[in-house]
Amino acid sequence: MTDQELIRCAIQVRHRSYAPYSHFHVGAALLSKSGKVFTGCNLENAAFSPTICAERAALAKAVSEGEREFTAIAIVGGKNQSISPIFTTPCGVCRQALYEFGGATLRVILARSEDDYQAVTLGELLPLGFGPANLEK
Ligand code: THU
Repeated sequence: MTDQELIRCAIQVRHRSYAPYSHFHVGAALLSKSGKVFTGCNLENAAFSPTICAERAALAKAVSEGEREFTAIAIVGGKNQSISPIFTTPCGVCRQALYEFGGATLRVILARSEDDYQAVTLGELLPLGFGPANLEK
């Protein structure tokens, strides 16, 4: 699975985004160590706080299908039908949620298109993250 293919999955699932309040549509594609892709879109709610981001939607799908180890996630977002010129970065809650499973080495692919993207690590987005290892000692 190339970065481009993963980004394509994120772009496709973004069409399913349910964002009638913000009109900001996000798609995410999470790649498991076993090579499977789990996609997710954001889903908003009239009560606002139950909103689920695309990244956590993808994570919930993957974990509930038995996957717990991931190598990369591609994220694409923007207002209405357009893709934002500013990279859509995962919110703080999603950084923490992903840290639980990918740790600092998870590659986070911030994309504007298949050929216009920047890859960072989750450790860069969430330095000194708190994870399962912290509870061991
Ligand atoms: N959102 C995501 O799904 N992922 C991100 O990385 C940033 C924000 C969603 C939440 C909300 O539905 C909308 O985008 C505007 O914040």
